[in-house]
Amino acid sequence: METLHPDVEKVLFTEEDIAEIVKRLGAKITEDYQGKDLVLIAVLRGAVVFMGDLMRAIDTKCAIDFMAVSSYGNGVKSSGIVRIIKDLDIDINGRDVLIVEDVLDSGLTLKYLMKNLASRHPASLEVCTFLWKDVEGKQAAIDPKYVGTHCPDEFVVGYGLDYAERYRNLPYVGVLKPEVYA
Ligand code: PRP
Ligand code: MN
Ligand code: MG
Repeated sequence: METLHPDVEKVLFTEEDIAEIVKRLGAKITEDYQGKDLVLIAVLRGAVVFMGDLMRAIDTKCAIDFMAVSSYGNGVKSSGIVRIIKDLDIDINGRDVLIVEDVLDSGLTLKYLMKNLASRHPASLEVCTFLWKDVEGKQAAIDPKYVGTHCPDEFVVGYGLDYAERYRNLPYVGVLKPEVYA
């Protein structure tokens, strides 16, 4: 049994849960992208851990690249302003792009990325998000082809997800104690 971080209220997805989800997604992607020119694009920094796992669960030819965008800064809520901090190194024109994200929350990050990457004329453009937060009210219209799992609208950390750059290294996904960010 892993010991729970003192700032974490409860665990939502254990290492075992995560491994199972990744295996399922990897198998599906492997099947869907046979004979295609797959490029996985992970969104730094949150998606790094998921990307590392997911790419090893994919058994078909693929390239990887990274983009860094940020909308949250150190805050709890999305600022709504998405900034490109690091662009792709490779050309995605005519290739089959799959954006790899850790979490779809307001959807603003992905909405921006989809639009930005579509303008570079990939052959196909899809999204694989590990978490899909069930938020009340407005969420940008994003329809990810691959979803690891839904999660409640709580402040989740771990498995790449941070609060003020902390907790990304937790091997599970947990809910932060409110007093930590209050
Ligand atoms: C977080 C998360 C997603 C995005 C989701 O990134 O990793 O990329 O927010 O939120 P949205 O759907 O409301 O746009 P963040 O901007 O915190 O940067 P990070 O990945 O470096 O933590
Ligand atoms: Mn992110
Ligand atoms: Mg963040």
